[in-house]
Amino acid sequence: MPSAQRIEIVDVSARDGLQNEKNAASLTAQDKVYYIEKLMKSGLRRIEAGSFVKPAAVPAMANSAEVAQLLEPVQENHPEIIFSYLTPNQKGLLRAKEIGAKEVAIFLAVSEQFSKANINQSVDASFAAIMPVITEATDCGIRVRGYLSTVFGYDDMPFNPQAVAMRSKQLLDMGCYEVSLGDTTGIGTPEKVEELVAALKKQAVPLDKVAMHFHDTFGTAIGNVARSYELGIRTFDASTGGLGGCPYANSPKGNLAMEHLVEWCAREGIGCDVTNASSLAEAAAYMRQKLGK
Ligand code: HMG
Ligand code: MG
Repeated sequence: MPSAQRIEIVDVSARDGLQNEKNAASLTAQDKVYYIEKLMKSGLRRIEAGSFVKPAAVPAMANSAEVAQLLEPVQENHPEIIFSYLTPNQKGLLRAKEIGAKEVAIFLAVSEQFSKANINQSVDASFAAIMPVITEATDCGIRVRGYLSTVFGYDDMPFNPQAVAMRSKQLLDMGCYEVSLGDTTGIGTPEKVEELVAALKKQAVPLDKVAMHFHDTFGTAIGNVARSYELGIRTFDASTGGLGGCPYANSPKGNLAMEHLVEWCAREGIGCDVTNASSLAEAAAYMRQKLGK
């Protein structure tokens, strides 16, 4: 039933969820596709299926091209699904083009320390280097999502909402259709969300082009979602079973659990894509068993 109050969910289970799991590098492409199909069955429509990053940097994502190839017939039968792939550079984009990606996600940060650890570039250098990647992707009809990490601060920098708003605007101006603000280490709080949204508004960043990407290190993720929603944000990233974290962050912890987000929606009377909770539970149980958790 259509709901006036509704959120969009970006499922990051098969990418952020798996990239830092110690046994995930042994998952076959078939395992991942089985998992992704269960996620699709739950109703999810926007699904990150892998990363075209340097395989040695994130071994768990090394078979992403094989995953994408196996997803080709699935995509043909389900044109409504958007599969997305992380691409850090031209080489990543080339690999995404080879598998016919409809969407890619680039990923930058506000923290210099994190940027260097994650993508081996300073923040300014990474913004300059990604511009031709965005242009080439959009020229080819591939839409580009932009992640901005460490938005609530990091070891080397305190929370700086103005800097986050400025960088968010820059990503949209560069051609990203949406910017996803990453609480990479889960240090966000509802109060900080409030300051961040105020800064975004001041910088004239359209809130319908902003997604929130919470990690749940200190159990604040749902509180952060609720405050973001009250303030006008309508798109949230989540991972089934709360799996996830960036291997290059100082304290990677699980993403906002999809199950918590879906339960929150039900409690608040807010619609979302997930209509088949049992398929979601099957996906989570399958992956727990595969990862030996
Ligand atoms: P680098 O070593 O500086 O790259 O890595 P390079 O350009 O010097 O190349 C070195 C080698 O890597 C070369 O191979 C390249 O061809 C190869 P060689 O000549 O030595 O044989 N290479 C690649 N191979 C395949 N695909 C590619 C690619 N690029 C280079 N795309 C680089 C720089 C950015 C590539 C590397 O640091 C990297 O791959 N980093 C990715 C790290 C990552 O995936 N982190 C997790 C995702 S971000 C995240 O989780 C946060 C998020 O969830 C939001 C949040 O929570 O905040 C999104
Ligand atoms: Mg993340």
